[in-house]
Amino acid sequence: MELRIDREALVPVVQQIVDALAEWLHRGEMSAGARLPSVRQIARINLLSQSSVVEACERLVAQGVLATRNGTGFFVAVTALAAQGPQDLPWFEGVEEKQSSHVGELKLGCGGLPESWRETDDLSYAIRQVSRTDMAGLFNYSTPLGLPALRQQILKRLKQLNITVDESRILTTAGASHGLDLIVRTLFKTGDCVVVESPGYSMLFDLLRLHGVSMIEVPRTPHGPDTHALEALLLKHKPRGLFINSFYHNPTGSSLAPAVAQHVLQLAKKNGVLVIEDDVYADLHCGSGTRLAALGIDDNVIYVGSYSKTLSSSLRVGFVVAGADVISRLARVKMISSMGASRFSESVLACLLASGAYRKLVQRQRQRLSTDREAALQILEDAEWEVFGKPVGGLFIWARSRNADYAQVRTQARRFGVLLSCATAFSPTGQAHDWQRINVAYACDPRARAFFQATAKAC
Ligand SMILES: Cc1ncc(COP(=O)(O)O)c(C=O)c1O
Repeated sequence: MELRIDREALVPVVQQIVDALAEWLHRGEMSAGARLPSVRQIARINLLSQSSVVEACERLVAQGVLATRNGTGFFVAVTALAAQGPQDLPWFEGVEEKQSSHVGELKLGCGGLPESWRETDDLSYAIRQVSRTDMAGLFNYSTPLGLPALRQQILKRLKQLNITVDESRILTTAGASHGLDLIVRTLFKTGDCVVVESPGYSMLFDLLRLHGVSMIEVPRTPHGPDTHALEALLLKHKPRGLFINSFYHNPTGSSLAPAVAQHVLQLAKKNGVLVIEDDVYADLHCGSGTRLAALGIDDNVIYVGSYSKTLSSSLRVGFVVAGADVISRLARVKMISSMGASRFSESVLACLLASGAYRKLVQRQRQRLSTDREAALQILEDAEWEVFGKPVGGLFIWARSRNADYAQVRTQARRFGVLLSCATAFSPTGQAHDWQRINVAYACDPRARAFFQATAKAC
């Protein structure tokens, strides 16, 4: 039973053992009621102390995943495996539903940072701080626009991005997904038509479909949407909206060039199109760059941000920046549908932003991503993969093997314990392609390296 414990990771070893054992069990490696290999054996194979393994097993007993019988070892709890349906298993956007059961695989195609990259110390401190000192943060609803202390911090970051607004134009949300949902359901109606980027963010496509909004696709180039194609589409289809993922685009990792940003905005203004700029990877970006929102936030440009990609996807904090009228409409729908966002999460985040801990966290993440991106690009070059526009930051590289047979590439990945995203995930029309979204934070894992090398040999 190899648990693949990462001693460099910031997640404590006992927690890693808990996660790895739970994954191993949910992969169906043992049936309910079966006895786990002995603690001594698990410790020896994985070079762990027996006390760490015992502590991890005890935690799994407390969670109902394992059971003990009079000191005769640990057993798989009868209910543990039956209770967990597909909906409970780890999931990431872009993966096929039936693939999500392979929980032990390396999620090379996934959209977030691995747990082992997440840092717990500052977050735990902020959580304790709010629990001890902020009774309202612990028990009360937030305000309709969101906690003022958090919105003031967001305002400071927006200023660095040259997005000049006042605090009343910022609305907090439960992640960017909530922001996008509020925008689509409040500002669009069934039968409306919008432009989306292709390839693009699959959950946005699902959201628009859910609300009966039809999509036309503009090709994404390494510098942003193809403006010639966009111009033609705007004239022909007269869409009401345009959704753009500006920096470190999901899935290509590309960013909006300043000239493209200017051109897109001109076209949108000329054609009376509402622009929604989704910039959830913004904090992984440092340096110069032009956001559409920096060219002027008004009732025609809406900016969406999030802390899921850096701090925690679990806290569920994001925000929307827009003109006064749009913000007041969105705030009303936010209150009707959810009574506001989580005040507790907002207070924790405000605390991390105010102390500077968040700023230092993202600096470390950028640094680490930058090192791994360089290494990943080299691995891809050695394996002769084609790379789309060589990204300079963020989480993703968009690349394809010289072996155009996607099914074969995927089978090969599976043999190395690597999970790729689904071939149709990033197309608004569900068209299959052979490009892969490669998450930089997973790409240097030995399983990914072995997979890339094998694809080179297969060609
Ligand atoms: C482009 C894009 N927008 C929005 C989201 C949703 O982010 P959140 O977790 O803040 O809801 C994601 C998450 O992957 C994303 O990639």
